[in-house]
Amino acid sequence: MNADRRPDPERETVRVELGARSYDVLVGAGLLREAGQRLAPLLPGRSAVVITDRVVADLHLDATLGALREAGFACSTLIVEPGERSKDLATLADVLEEILGRGIERTTALVALGGGVVGDLTGFVASVLLRGVPFVQIPTTLLAQVDSGVGGKTGVNSGHGKNLIGTFYQPRLVLADVATLDTLPARERLAGYTEIVKYGLIDDPAFFDWLEGNGQALVDGDRDLLRTAVAHACRAKARIVAGDERESGSRALLNLGHTFAHALEAEAGYDGSLLHGEAVACGIVLAHRLSAELSHCGADDAARVAAHFRAVGLPSEAGDLPALRWHVPALIERMKRDKKVQDGRMTFVLTRGIGCAFLSRDVPQEALRALLDRAFASPDRAETR
Ligand code: NAD
Ligand code: GLY
Repeated sequence: MNADRRPDPERETVRVELGARSYDVLVGAGLLREAGQRLAPLLPGRSAVVITDRVVADLHLDATLGALREAGFACSTLIVEPGERSKDLATLADVLEEILGRGIERTTALVALGGGVVGDLTGFVASVLLRGVPFVQIPTTLLAQVDSGVGGKTGVNSGHGKNLIGTFYQPRLVLADVATLDTLPARERLAGYTEIVKYGLIDDPAFFDWLEGNGQALVDGDRDLLRTAVAHACRAKARIVAGDERESGSRALLNLGHTFAHALEAEAGYDGSLLHGEAVACGIVLAHRLSAELSHCGADDAARVAAHFRAVGLPSEAGDLPALRWHVPALIERMKRDKKVQDGRMTFVLTRGIGCAFLSRDVPQEALRALLDRAFASPDRAETR
């Protein structure tokens, strides 16, 4: 850390302005080593439970514990299995019972060290444990640094769909150490990149232009580009969350492509064959195609988005998805159970062009059905009975 607190060009601080619940997102390389000194002034006590998954534990737990202990924290750890299947009610119950069994107090902080799965699960645990204990996000995937680590959405999946059980509960601090991304598998980095592109497509066409020029180097791991993009994405997310913390309006724009994606993920069975960011890439292309079908934007906009995802190696077509027998009526049923359904009408994020996303509850069922029938047209890939 800079002892004299002069601005460090390699570090950025993004403030999430939420009144008494405001907090900083720190972005830069090497922040893990500073975890203890960064957390200490913000937490009521000096005890912490670090929750992580087995993969991240092998790579980054020692450094985190070392930094926390150096600052005087008494730490214990709790390790869950990696992957989306840990974001379920059974794991939630195990984690709650395990932590309660250790006899924690209301001043004990939970530290989420890992990707969106660990972050969403830990945030939920923190929000209900003893009616709320402080928590901190140390996101270690690109997706978690640019999206899930910021904004306070927590939760687990239900058999009925993704993220259907959860809370809004803000962390005290987010430490996005871009150096931790060095160990991230290329496929995971790519999946996280989708959520960066999303910000350009929502309301920032100049950022999308920039990504078209720099996206490949970024997904290949260029640290400066990653830091720039993570900080930019966090600023965008902070602005949206500050304006609509509990998603009564504009925050729903962050779900661009997600209504499709959640249905695809649920049908794929959360088994790792389809990552969240991969499903979102495909969903974003479908949202642009639907917008073009409904004459809100041009077909060239949808083609441009698909071309960018294809260029960096993300799925953009149904044919790029795992070779399941996708069943269009089942996908539509999943979409109808989305959290954003209101009075029985699905909410879609549509667009008037690159960077002009908007919410719509007026998508005709026939248009949706026709779009999905066309997308999953091959008889080998879909059943539309
Ligand atoms: P993840 O947490 O499953 O992590 C992906 C994989 O990367 C895991 O196997 C993990 O062990 C591994 N990993 C993590 N950090 C690593 C590192 N530094 N080096 C090597 N391996 C590492 O998945 P994710 O993509 O981070 O998050 C997806 C989840 O986030 C989904 O459940 C999604 O619903 C949720 N999400 C939540 C929000 C929100 O606002 N709360 C937003 C977007 C997504
Ligand atoms: N990832 C969507 C949100 O945080 O609102």
